[in-house]
Amino acid sequence: MNTVTVVGAGHVGATLAQRIAEKELARRVVLVDIVEGIPQGKGLDLWESAPIEGFDTRVLGANDYAAAKDCELFLVTAGVARKPGMSRDDLVKTNAAIIESVCEEIKQASPNAMIMMISNPLDVMCWVAKEVTGFPPERVFGMAGVLDTARYRSFIAMELNVSVEDIQAMVLGGHGDSMVPLVSYTTVSGIPVTQLMNSEKLDAIVERTRKGGGEIVSYLKTGSAYYAPSAAAAQMAESIIKDKKRVLPCAAWLTGQYGLNGLYCGVPCKLGAGGVEEIIEVELTDEERTALENSSEVVKKTMEAVTL
Ligand code: APR
Repeated sequence: MNTVTVVGAGHVGATLAQRIAEKELARRVVLVDIVEGIPQGKGLDLWESAPIEGFDTRVLGANDYAAAKDCELFLVTAGVARKPGMSRDDLVKTNAAIIESVCEEIKQASPNAMIMMISNPLDVMCWVAKEVTGFPPERVFGMAGVLDTARYRSFIAMELNVSVEDIQAMVLGGHGDSMVPLVSYTTVSGIPVTQLMNSEKLDAIVERTRKGGGEIVSYLKTGSAYYAPSAAAAQMAESIIKDKKRVLPCAAWLTGQYGLNGLYCGVPCKLGAGGVEEIIEVELTDEERTALENSSEVVKKTMEAVTL
C-alpha cells in the first residue's frame, strides 16, 4: 500500500503509526493532528528511529490533508480520550463533532479511501463517518472487537497459565460495558474453555473484559489505553493491506444480520483488500443473542444523542 494516514497523533495514533511503520505495511505513514507541531515532531522522531529499527516506511506529520491525498486507508484516532469516571458515551457529542470535521477532510482528499474508526464511542463514530462521507459500508468500519477479544484472551491465558497464542475467542456487540464475549466459541487449541475453567472464574473474566478499558483508565487517570488498541488496529490494517482475509470481530454496518438493522455493532467479519468483505453469521445461544440485542440497544441510544 502506498499511504496509510493516521488521524490524531495522540497516544493511540502515535503508537499505531509506529506499529504500521515498523511492520512496513505501507510506503508512507502520514500522521495528522490539529495541534501544530505535534504530528510533525512525532512523525520526524519516528522516522529518525528507522535507521535503527530498519524500516523504510517514510513517516511524516502534518496539520492538513495535503500529504494524505489519494490515501488508501485512514485510521482515525482523533478525539478526546476518557477520564476516570467517564463512560465512552460521555464522549459522544465532543467526538462526533471532531469526527464529522475529520471525515469531511477525508472525503475531499481521498474519495476512494477506507476508514477504520478507533475513536470512541466507537460504534456511533463509525456511523458518523459513514453518514458524513457517504462511503459504502464495506469501506467504513471500526476497531473494537479485536481489542476486547485480546483482553479476554490475555485474562484467560493468565488464569490457565497457558500461551495467549492458543486461546481462540470472539467478543461481539457494541464497544462498551454491554459487549458480548462468546463463551461458547472460546477454546484453548480447540478445547472448549468450559472444560478447563469453572463458570465462576469464567464469569469473572467476562466481567473483567467488559470493564477492561475502564480498568486501564483508572490506573492511568489522565487518559485511556493505547498499547493494546494500537496493536488491534494494526492487526486489522495488516489483514486489509495484505488481503489476508482474516476473520476478525469488527464494528460493521448491519442490515439485518443477527436480526439487527441500521447500526454499527461488533460482528465476525472477513477483512481483506475490499475492507469488510463479508459479515459472518454464527449461531448464538439464547443468552448470547439476548446480550447482543441489549448491546445494540445501547448503541442505538447513543446514536440518538448525535444530530448530523
Ligand atoms: N483532527 C485531528 N486530530 C484531532 C482533532 C481533529 N479535528 N481533534 C483532536 N485531535 C487530536 C488531539 O489533538 C490529540 O492529539 O486527537 C488526539 C487524541 O489523542 P489523545 O488525547 O492522546 O487520545 P488517545 O488516547 O490517543 O485516544 C484517542 O481513541 O481509543 C480511543 O477513546 C479513545 O476516542 C479516543 C481515541
